Amino acid sequence: MVLMLTPPSLLAQPENWDFRDADTKEGTHVIHSYPAMMIPQFARGLIARLRHQKPEAQSLLDPFCGAGTVLVEAARQGLAPWGNDLNPLALRIARVRTTPVDADVLGSEIAHLLDSLTPAHLFAWDGKVPEFAGRDFWFKAEISRALTFIQEKIAVLLNPDVRALAEMAFSETVRLVSNTRNGEFKLYRIPTDKLDRFHPDVLHTFQQILTRYQAGLQAFDAELRVAAAPTRIVYGDTCNLTNVPNRFFDLMVTSPPYGDSRTTVAYGQFSRLSLEWLGLPPDEARTVDRQLLGGRFPVESTPATIPSAAVQSGVAAIAEQDPVRAREVEGFYRDLDRAIGSITQKLKPGAMCAWVVANRTVKRVELATNTIIAELSSARGYELVEDLTRNIPNKRMPLANSPSNVPGDIGATMTQEHMLILRYHGSLA
Ligand SMILES: C[S@@+](CC[C@H](N)C(=O)[O-])C[C@H]1O[C@@H](n2cnc3c(N)ncnc32)[C@H](O)[C@@H]1O
Repeated sequence: MVLMLTPPSLLAQPENWDFRDADTKEGTHVIHSYPAMMIPQFARGLIARLRHQKPEAQSLLDPFCGAGTVLVEAARQGLAPWGNDLNPLALRIARVRTTPVDADVLGSEIAHLLDSLTPAHLFAWDGKVPEFAGRDFWFKAEISRALTFIQEKIAVLLNPDVRALAEMAFSETVRLVSNTRNGEFKLYRIPTDKLDRFHPDVLHTFQQILTRYQAGLQAFDAELRVAAAPTRIVYGDTCNLTNVPNRFFDLMVTSPPYGDSRTTVAYGQFSRLSLEWLGLPPDEARTVDRQLLGGRFPVESTPATIPSAAVQSGVAAIAEQDPVRAREVEGFYRDLDRAIGSITQKLKPGAMCAWVVANRTVKRVELATNTIIAELSSARGYELVEDLTRNIPNKRMPLANSPSNVPGDIGATMTQEHMLILRYHGSLA
């Protein structure tokens, strides 16, 4: 029944997985940027590929859901999607991207909000700007004032889903009007000489973003409603997944982090200023990176307990050059192994899984995360069905890094990623 409602184009498998010219911002995927997002067309193709092998599938889990790209595409294909993440900003984005809102309510609430955001109203406004450590370093006084003004207008919106959408437009605005350098995930300040010339129009920026989000949500509204059940998005550590039901999922599609946030993608730093403005307590807004995979520095070194020859040989090779770094890398893969353990408990026997991973080099040692995931999964009762590669033409990722930290010494990494398709047999869970 639900399958009949899914447009056939959404169930088609792509011939080329690079998606060089794809519109990555269609529908609700336009809502809020996020580091290392999956390309929607890619997520769509992967889900379709798994469903080809398991046509009766109804439920899908993305245990590292980020901004919810996979969840949106699963909902559009009529599945019941569940997402999990530890970054509160990711969860908010994913929720907004997967929640349809009645078109009349959306239209009238947003028109009312936009009408109230005039320069004259801002000029006359005399509210109090919230305090948080570093506020005046990252925001000019007139910018903070305009942001607080917008926030007050959002707070009086009646519909909670429209309010959540407006908060995401606000959060994106926070990033764009802050003193941070454009195009970076980490927090770097614009140099002082350039800062003098930096005077973004906060009201206009917010209005433009919100109008784009509204159109994106309307474009996908009907398709999000075909989901077998409303998308469930929960906060939790993938290493234990306590808020996700056991033995419930037919499909699992995910892209885990590439390494710890400190040395690869800094999800927490990317989110910090937004989270401070959205009112999270500083200890939650500032500690995201430390909680993510590999963020807790390992106390002891026990590579033999990780059931992967690729981890053991990689860690040993790094240890010859830098034992501390080796333990960090080992800590990341130990967490990944724990995550695979908890994901496994959530799957039904026979579930189909897709992992999207890019390999990386540390100290010139290549860490083949595709092989590592295949080995860790095999120890838990999975069979590798296929390991495909695709080029990464337009993902916002570090395309190259310096393996030795010597300026100019570039090691090309992350120009390709692997799509690892596995079947869970259920025997060794
Ligand atoms: C590559 S991103 C996922 C991007 C997502 N596919 C998208 O399109 O937006 C990896 C995500 O894993 C999350 N993460 C890292 N460690 C985690 C952990 N231990 N538990 C839950 N989420 C974690 C990060 O917060 C980040 O959102």
